[in-house]
Amino acid sequence: MTNRSLLILPGDGIGPEVMAEVRKVIDWFGTRGIAFDVSEDLVGGCAYDAHGTPLTDATMARAQEVDAVLLGAVGGPKYDVLDFSVKPERGLLRLRKEMDLYANLRPAQCFDALADFSSLKKDVVAGLDIMIIRELTSGVYFGEPRGIIKEGNERVGINTQRYTESEIARVARSAFELARKRGNKVCSMEKANVMESGVLWRDVVQEIHDAEYPDVELSHMYADAGAMQLTRWPKQFDVIVTDNLFGDLLSDLAAMLTGSLGMLPSASLGAPMANGRPKALYEPVHGSAPDIAGKSLANPIACILSFAMALRYSFDLGAEAERVETAVNAVLADGLRTADLMGPEGGTPVSTSAMGDAIVAKLAASV
Ligand code: NAI
Ligand code: MG
Repeated sequence: MTNRSLLILPGDGIGPEVMAEVRKVIDWFGTRGIAFDVSEDLVGGCAYDAHGTPLTDATMARAQEVDAVLLGAVGGPKYDVLDFSVKPERGLLRLRKEMDLYANLRPAQCFDALADFSSLKKDVVAGLDIMIIRELTSGVYFGEPRGIIKEGNERVGINTQRYTESEIARVARSAFELARKRGNKVCSMEKANVMESGVLWRDVVQEIHDAEYPDVELSHMYADAGAMQLTRWPKQFDVIVTDNLFGDLLSDLAAMLTGSLGMLPSASLGAPMANGRPKALYEPVHGSAPDIAGKSLANPIACILSFAMALRYSFDLGAEAERVETAVNAVLADGLRTADLMGPEGGTPVSTSAMGDAIVAKLAASV
């Protein structure tokens, strides 16, 4: 037993393929004296096949007690016919909900070797390293009242943006804590010019800052202006904190500044546990990619970088996280590309496992 517990849920489609490459990285750290107490279980369609549910109570209980959960992807066409209540996605949603993971972290980071891959000018994205924190458990996706009602002879669609002070305060704290481990700068985005919930958002973020994090540089921006600034000069930002809806859009926008779905990690964090570590779920942004599953075409980097985020945010192993990111950059600099990273000029892609092996080789060469 170690004091670092990790639950691995590979899931469906390319999930197990990319997770196999993460296992190589985990094993390599084990040989360097940084061991993890790893357990593995089913989630999503494969869990439904085995147990008739996309997430068993036993797996849920295990997820609640480990330091970090690392998930591959869930879903696939085979499960489209299932009832909504047992769809693979329900397994993931249950994890997020019961662990109360309110802070969704989506980095937008440019690996030097891929700066040409961006749709923006190289000098706008080269060296880019920003983090978007999206509030994940409240806001307009959950607010009541909601629905489609009849008013006179027409239908009216209703959703409610609703945030309590404590919901804003806790995600603000996540942002300030994170900023202290990075560039010490937070930009909060809302639309306080037209939304009362935005006014409250701005006030609470400022209050938490003044009372608890005066050392962190804080600015506020309207979310629409933020979208413009993200495409014009993204390097002005370090940590961006925003609500569920704006965060959904801005994190997708920021992610595409730098590259491919196969490169994008994420973390979802909740409240600190007794040992001080936050409840945490790490997963690539991509899905189960049924179109390429089983063909050794999947890019394992998004999942490997998700593990790097676990090193940094759950295990306080920032230097080791950086070592993984440096190894990824090095293999890309060598010209290794999975199929999703091939430009229109083409070339010969490497397989999922060749990419994983190359990253481990770079790790080994770095010591
Ligand atoms: P997707 O992310 O699985 O795939 C979109 C496209 O990107 C596909 O062409 C795929 O081949 C490619 N792609 C994705 N990840 C890649 C990787 N690592 N390397 C190379 N290429 C990659 O999204 P899609 O097609 O909308 O959904 C497929 C299934 O995944 C559905 O069942 C969906 O419900 C599920 N899904 C699951 C998610 C999760 O587990 N968090 C998130 C999104 C979708
Ligand atoms: Mg989205």
